[in-house]
Amino acid sequence: MKFFVDTADTAAIKELNDLGMVDGVTTNPSLILKSGRDILEVTKDICDLVDGPVSAEVVATEADQMIEEGRKLAKIASNIAVKLPLTWDGLKACKVLTGEGKMVNVTLCFSANQALLAAKAGATFISPFIGRLDDINLDGMDLIQDIRVIYDNYGFETQILAASIRSANHMSEAAKIGADVATAPPNVIKAMANHALTDKGLDGFLADWAKTGQKII
Ligand code: E4P
Repeated sequence: MKFFVDTADTAAIKELNDLGMVDGVTTNPSLILKSGRDILEVTKDICDLVDGPVSAEVVATEADQMIEEGRKLAKIASNIAVKLPLTWDGLKACKVLTGEGKMVNVTLCFSANQALLAAKAGATFISPFIGRLDDINLDGMDLIQDIRVIYDNYGFETQILAASIRSANHMSEAAKIGADVATAPPNVIKAMANHALTDKGLDGFLADWAKTGQKII
């Protein structure tokens, strides 16, 4: 499973990228707001840091304007994936922009039918939002599973990009189901390293090591 990092914080992206943990980046208008930076400038900086796809989201709601914004965003760098909302107009824009050879990430997906339409429109990525489904007492992982079955049934090449990931468990669950990509905030990716038994085991080893009186260096 590829790891995308869900942030516009360039320092956090760099730290994870230096560790080989970043296969791409996703941003959205809320993350741009959080960064406090100009969308074109911060997106360019991210594209300079990361080789993989960097999703930059349009804010227009009508297809023609979405296409215009998408073309402008795509000019930032060759690794831009234009992010479009899963609306009828978003699907129209998806068809046009993918037809021009641009990568498109169709976002705000909450149903298998929406994912099926995005694949038909040629989306490069479909972003089902796990956490926001869990928030309303539905099971976001069930949606990932349904989309996996549907895409595999028909050989759709659209990649399933599990989004709105809120916990380390979401990452392993998405990987078990077979999501192609998961995008998560930096703190969630770092939390994947944590285990209470690792901490306890290390404490024990270090206590015993101190009793040996030895040094390695
Ligand atoms: C995905 O591309 C979105 O940017 C993101 O995962 C949304 O996550 P949230 O529901 O935690 O805001």
